Amino acid sequence: MRSAHRSPTVAGMGHHDHDHDHHHDDSSLADLLDLDAVVLHEYWTGALDWVRRAAGGDGQRIVDLGAGTGTGTLLLAHRFDHAEVIAVDASAEMLHRVRAKAQDQGLADRITTVHADLDERWPVPGPVDLTWASLSLHHLADPDRVLRDVHAATRPGGLIAVAEFPVQLRFLPDGAGAALESRLLERIGRYQAERLPELGSDWAARLTAAGFALLDERTFDIDLAPAPSEAADYAALWFGRMRDRLDDLDPADAAALAGLLDGDGPGTLHRRDDFRVRGTRTVTLARRP
Ligand SMILES: C[S@@+](CC[C@H](N)C(=O)[O-])C[C@H]1O[C@@H](n2cnc3c(N)ncnc32)[C@H](O)[C@@H]1O
Repeated sequence: MRSAHRSPTVAGMGHHDHDHDHHHDDSSLADLLDLDAVVLHEYWTGALDWVRRAAGGDGQRIVDLGAGTGTGTLLLAHRFDHAEVIAVDASAEMLHRVRAKAQDQGLADRITTVHADLDERWPVPGPVDLTWASLSLHHLADPDRVLRDVHAATRPGGLIAVAEFPVQLRFLPDGAGAALESRLLERIGRYQAERLPELGSDWAARLTAAGFALLDERTFDIDLAPAPSEAADYAALWFGRMRDRLDDLDPADAAALAGLLDGDGPGTLHRRDDFRVRGTRTVTLARRP
């Protein structure tokens, strides 16, 4: 996880100490992930139903790698009736949310959380039947090493499913809004290229290199129009994170972004009914021979 760098010029806030930023960033990401589960519910259930079918009845010991707030963990526990699901994450705050949800949904006896930095060590003893890694591998310093560790921990015949997003989500309708969004996404793409060089990698090739045999890859197209009611909060978190990260925005773009996020003008995300949620997630499925 990286700390947020809020621009004093754009957001009117000064420098934060590292710990504060780290916490702020974790909790804003956690809120975003919780909303991701609600807004992209159809994608999540479709993807995990598909993984469930591919795994058949197998699945006693399942790992959710970089589990975040546990969207995958919980959906897996519901789909694999008797499995133990182990949520691994480097963030204590994320895992706290996983445990709270497990408790609420009566799944605390089958969901375990493991607080570990995957860049330092592989934390789950085998044999593992299924690993789900959603939007987490691109955060790792050495994902190939981690994939080899997953392979070593997976029983022969066991599966791994990697979910990633080949394109950024988009919210604003065609016209000036979409042009602004394109400029912001182009800037955020450059920001991410420096900090998350593994984003957009060829995960199928890397799974093969780690010793897995590819089974299938599915693309889930997302196009929600009208957007569900939670999408305004969700979009505001995405745009807010962009504002946190992008220094030196063009003043007109900074003002337009502020208009989306702040105040109560008609252009504020929370007052608009014309935005959609568009994007793509891919899930790559592989088996340990
Ligand atoms: C974008 S979130 C995805 C969360 C969840 N899998 C989902 O799709 O909703 C990435 C997660 O990976 C975790 N993460 C990042 N680097 C990690 C590391 N080195 N070890 C363990 N977890 C890590 C973060 O804390 C975060 O919860």
